[in-house]
Amino acid sequence: MLPLLAQGHLIPFLALARQIQQTTPSFKITIATTPLNIQLLKHHHIHNHIHFAELPLNPNAENTEKPPLDGILKLCQASLISKIKEQEGYPPLSYISVWSNLPHINSDSDKFSVQPFPQDYKFSSCHMPRYLREANGSNDWSRFLVSQLSLSMKSDGWICNTVEEVETLGLDLLRKYIHLPIWSLGPLRPLPLKGKETSMASDEECIEWLNLKDQRSVLCICFGSQNTISTCQMMALAEGLEKSETSFIWVVRPPLGFDINGEFNAHEWLPKGFEERIKNAQKGLLVHQWGPQMKILSHKSIAAFVSHCGWNSVLESLSCGVPIIGWPLAAEQAYNAKMLDEELGVGVILTATVESVVSNEEVKNVTEMVMDQESVMGKEMKGKKN
Ligand SMILES: *[C@@H]1O[C@H](CO)[C@@H](O)[C@H](O)[C@H]1NC(C)=O
Ligand SMILES: *[C@@H]1O[C@H](CO)[C@@H](O)[C@H](O)[C@H]1NC(C)=O
Repeated sequence: MLPLLAQGHLIPFLALARQIQQTTPSFKITIATTPLNIQLLKHHHIHNHIHFAELPLNPNAENTEKPPLDGILKLCQASLISKIKEQEGYPPLSYISVWSNLPHINSDSDKFSVQPFPQDYKFSSCHMPRYLREANGSNDWSRFLVSQLSLSMKSDGWICNTVEEVETLGLDLLRKYIHLPIWSLGPLRPLPLKGKETSMASDEECIEWLNLKDQRSVLCICFGSQNTISTCQMMALAEGLEKSETSFIWVVRPPLGFDINGEFNAHEWLPKGFEERIKNAQKGLLVHQWGPQMKILSHKSIAAFVSHCGWNSVLESLSCGVPIIGWPLAAEQAYNAKMLDEELGVGVILTATVESVVSNEEVKNVTEMVMDQESVMGKEMKGKKN
């Protein structure tokens, strides 16, 4: 298995490895990734039968000279195949892609439809991540994506981390489009990967705090392991939460432009005295860096989830029956949010991109509307859950 090197991609691959292992123990599974990722995986889980192959990438060299993306990819593929040949004498594997985007479209108008989606499905340039908006066919990202897609088309089939009932239309269109077998294996039950152990509130503290709250009364807020919001958005979110009636548990990370894994500077990025006030009023819990998301979402006190709509988070939230307030930031997240809102009716979009301006009043209004179990929307979403 050759996951993309970021943590969000390791999680579902690891879950897939475990699933295969449980059903077909005779398979030998090797996950090829960087030495640093392997350390992380080995540190947190005991996988007796999952093997790791180190890709020859030096994490310390990253800051000095970044190899271009397609270079990394070729290196990974070559290395994986030679490792497997070396160890087992296996023939090279066919490629298996976990890929959720349809190829990119060009349009200048703000609302447009995309083949082969039905005409009344409107997309907008704000749904497109920056790398798609800026793609011109020859920059790094375009070359990377084009080579990924064309290689994926040469595979024997695709395994998707999704559920037929959740993505009925998408899977149907994809099957017609790529003419390859597609198996949806999801939701792959994610195993939490712990980040750095800098969390101020531990797992137990989160759960104990939630235990004191009423059923379906708390909002969970988390933007994933690789994304963060802008400084202005963070301020508006904090002010909106404070104005609202809602209790919340918020996994905070430094805003855009700062080291996402660095120290969180509450004095600079949150309203003055915010952390103390919400703590004293038992209104909110700030978790620094990393929280046990699945445990939090499955807690009975959680009523809704403010999420960047990364696919792992979407699947976790759907598995727990928690409605989503979408705040997409990158990659295909805006499409996920759109699907949750328009197709499944289990989410709303609070704001569309990391660049958009959001006011504290919007935060307050939207969160209260979703949290209010008796509101039209609250009722509707609850109904969908059942
Ligand atoms: C595409 O974008 C890249 C990077 O922004 C630039 O260097 C290149 O000249 C552009 N190519 C074309 C064909 O516009
Ligand atoms: C928020 O809700 C209030 C009361 O319903 C309304 O007057 C106000 O215009 C709303 N603000 C925004 C930004 O949606």
